[in-house]
Amino acid sequence: MSGRTHIVVDGVVHTYQPPRGRPVRALENVSLDIGEQEFVALLGPSGCGKSTLLYLLGGYLPVQQGAIRVAGKPIAGPAPDRGIVFQHFALFPWKTVLQNVLYGLEKQGMPRDRRLLRAREFIALVGLTGFESSFPAQLSGGMKQRAAIARTLAVDPQILLMDEPFGALDAQTRSLMQVELLRIWEGTRKTVVFVTHDVQEAVFLAGRVAVMSARPGRIKEIVEARFDKDDPDLFRTRPFVETVDHVWNLVRAEAIAAQRSGAA
Ligand SMILES: Nc1ncnc2c1ncn2[C@@H]1O[C@H](COP(=O)(O)OP(=O)(O)OP(=O)(O)O)[C@@H](O)[C@H]1O
Ligand SMILES: [Mg+2]
Repeated sequence: MSGRTHIVVDGVVHTYQPPRGRPVRALENVSLDIGEQEFVALLGPSGCGKSTLLYLLGGYLPVQQGAIRVAGKPIAGPAPDRGIVFQHFALFPWKTVLQNVLYGLEKQGMPRDRRLLRAREFIALVGLTGFESSFPAQLSGGMKQRAAIARTLAVDPQILLMDEPFGALDAQTRSLMQVELLRIWEGTRKTVVFVTHDVQEAVFLAGRVAVMSARPGRIKEIVEARFDKDDPDLFRTRPFVETVDHVWNLVRAEAIAAQRSGAA
């Protein structure tokens, strides 16, 4: 990490206590510092606690043990400085695409004309122009996910928490959205925490890739991934391919461990 620290995760432990059944230890002593305007990717086997960590950062789960500080202050619930794109789309089913994107802007108290303009701008950005009046049930999975991304980006949070945001997109749209996200990040210099299962996506988008261990999740290794993202041949260059290989080996070892312990 370089520059000023934005987010500090310090010795965080998280245990789910279902109403019935045994407690589930999801995170074990997770520590991670994230710099201002840094782009960090989180990778790890299914069930290792990536979403849990993101919910904690978003303030949607209480910190049980350890500490999380954003700009030096402990987190106290969700706040507009942290926008989250959930793994499973969280659109209001009774609102249209436009109304969903407008929602966050209304809460910010932006005047109506500006709100409409801005909502339409972000709907266009994610390629949903023409679908403003559609309800979520009328959209494909990928379109829903893009609507959710537009809603989060429109609010312009300083911190973007993204949980497999491109997981439901086809390969072409995914690649376009990756480039768009990088453009937005370069233009607005947000701090981004991006969860993905796609190693190449992580190494391409992030400056650092944090690989988590099988459940209970810990940070196993942090891999530097600073490459020239404008290089059209980047995916074929040796340093890029080697970094992808290295991260892939780390993740594979943990996925095997998760399978053995039946954690996934
Ligand atoms: N509400 C809950 N109650 C009990 N256990 C839970 C709850 N939510 C998650 N868990 C458990 O906590 C662990 C971590 O879950 P989490 O959703 O954070 O994993 P993940 O890394 O995001 O997985 P995936 O890659 O599949 O999305 C899992 O073993 C899961 O079964
Ligand atoms: Mg998850």
